[in-house]
Amino acid sequence: MPDGNKDTGNPVIQLRDIHKAYGDIEVIKGVDLTAHRGDVVVLIGSSGSGKSTLLRCINLLETSQAGEITIHGEDVSWKNKAGGRVTSDPDQVRRFRTELSMVFQQFNLWAHLTILENVIEAPVTVLGKNRDEVEESGRALLSKVGIADQADKYPSQLSGGQQQRAAIARALCMEPQAMLFDEPTSALDPETEAEVVQVIQTLAAEGRTMVLVTHDMKMARDVASHVIFLHQGKIEEEGPPSEVFGNTKSERLKQFLSSTH
Ligand SMILES: Nc1ncnc2c1ncn2[C@@H]1O[C@H](COP(=O)(O)OP(=O)(O)OP(=O)(O)O)[C@@H](O)[C@H]1O
Ligand SMILES: [Mg+2]
Repeated sequence: MPDGNKDTGNPVIQLRDIHKAYGDIEVIKGVDLTAHRGDVVVLIGSSGSGKSTLLRCINLLETSQAGEITIHGEDVSWKNKAGGRVTSDPDQVRRFRTELSMVFQQFNLWAHLTILENVIEAPVTVLGKNRDEVEESGRALLSKVGIADQADKYPSQLSGGQQQRAAIARALCMEPQAMLFDEPTSALDPETEAEVVQVIQTLAAEGRTMVLVTHDMKMARDVASHVIFLHQGKIEEEGPPSEVFGNTKSERLKQFLSSTH
């Protein structure tokens, strides 16, 4: 079932005025982002604009120094520490990470596990689910992403596009509230890229909640319900794709879009 079974009416993900610095260099300078259930929020922007950093702040792989992060109405709890804040509830962090499954540019599959083992590993060990049941849903998910026949192979035996589809099946097997994608297609050649784009389009059409970073403007246009253009750590322009792409206001975004064609 898409997005698990929580439906509190609260946004799945809500960021308010997020700030993030590395040392003295502020790379996220007050960003708001809301993803309601079924939203596909697409982050675009030039290299270094802060897209990955923002995504990693959402699932607490990075610690933001200020601003609020709320997942399904529950605020991330923080405590102050010399030099900044840190999360204060390890159980909450674990829970939020499992509710927000991330798919990375470089797949990050375990090389020593088969594709099926990669998919079922976390549901069994982290969520404590029954192995046989998870195996059944794992196989169904591999079939959904079109690689059922690859279940018993190792990652190195698959093409990049197949590995990325395995990584998407692995994320889905956690039954996440939302999926976070960081440039899932940019390590792929055009042919296998299309297979992965198709899977992401299917997930979007199913109404899954997603935050997607991409350089692929065609995919952004196709799948986004809301587009955010980041420039030097700030939102320079945002809106529905028809507006952002069809009626672009900011000169910087116009420049960026002309450079991506
Ligand atoms: N661990 C880090 N330590 C110091 N600076 C970092 C770190 N990670 C990112 N940065 C800096 O933060 C800024 C934003 O980086 P980020 O990776 O979020 O950009 P991006 O928009 O994802 O770029 P790309 O399109 O190239 O992936 C950059 O200036 C980058 O050099
Ligand atoms: Mg990045």
